[in-house]
Amino acid sequence: MKKFNNKNVLVSGGASGIGKGIVQAFALEGATVYFADINSEMGINTKKDITSFTGNKKIEFIRTDFSCQQDIDNLIEQILGKAGFIDVLVNNVGVNLRSGNILEHSNEELSNTFKINLYSYIYCIQGFLPAMIKRKQGSIVNVSSTMGLGAKGFTAYSVSKGSIITLTKALALDHATDNIRVNAVAPGLIATPSTGAWIDQQENAAEMKGIPLNRVGRPDDIANAVIFLASEQASYITGHVLIVDGGLSVGE
Ligand SMILES: NC(=O)c1ccc[n+]([C@@H]2O[C@H](COP(=O)([O-])OP(=O)(O)OC[C@H]3O[C@@H](n4cnc5c(N)ncnc54)[C@H](O)[C@@H]3O)[C@@H](O)[C@H]2O)c1
Repeated sequence: MKKFNNKNVLVSGGASGIGKGIVQAFALEGATVYFADINSEMGINTKKDITSFTGNKKIEFIRTDFSCQQDIDNLIEQILGKAGFIDVLVNNVGVNLRSGNILEHSNEELSNTFKINLYSYIYCIQGFLPAMIKRKQGSIVNVSSTMGLGAKGFTAYSVSKGSIITLTKALALDHATDNIRVNAVAPGLIATPSTGAWIDQQENAAEMKGIPLNRVGRPDDIANAVIFLASEQASYITGHVLIVDGGLSVGE
């Protein structure tokens, strides 16, 4: 029996990288998977790849710009119109526009980072939570980052990712009595299109970063953690931030 048979799942930013890995993992577990991304070409190709790899035909791509509230409203309306509710919301979309401290970031950079990395999570939650509350059932998994625990030289990104940890805990407490669990994953260094160029430039990125498990992470490392947190096996876990970083944040 597959873990997510007859379950509706939405993954934001699902066309590539970690999001694609998460879409694939839910597809393998039998879910109906909606995924949304700004990149139509990549979204269409990802749908094709995952359908043929998993044999699951219940995968739908909806083009969405998560920096635009109207687009997010349309996404919510389309999914609720079709499915009525979702069982699992995975807020994954995220951008790290530029390194910099608070004096170096332009207000536009700050605003775009928070729109995509924080507000899109909030808007999706506001859109899907009422049906979850009504059904007294639901699971939300937010993708944060180990940089959300504190990072030097990436103020916009790290503040946005830290806010996701606080959002996760606040929601977990507010909606525990509605039987809605809210958790987060905090990835370390994962090989995706957004990190690939930097990783490729290093002789040994894992060694250079001092990752104890001595390898860079893969999207499926994060997808496995998301599947666990969303599943019945984690039914007594809420408000948790699962760090998936090969041991990097443990210390020397
Ligand atoms: N890769 C890492 O090392 C790492 C580490 C920690 C956390 N994360 C987090 O994991 C998540 C996924 O990261 P990734 O490395 O897979 O990124 P990625 O850049 O490979 O993929 C992000 C996806 O989001 C989409 N996207 C970007 N802006 C969008 C927008 N405005 N609207 C809709 N879609 C948009 C892109 O088209 C892309 O498909 C992000 O939240 C990121 O912050 C990544």
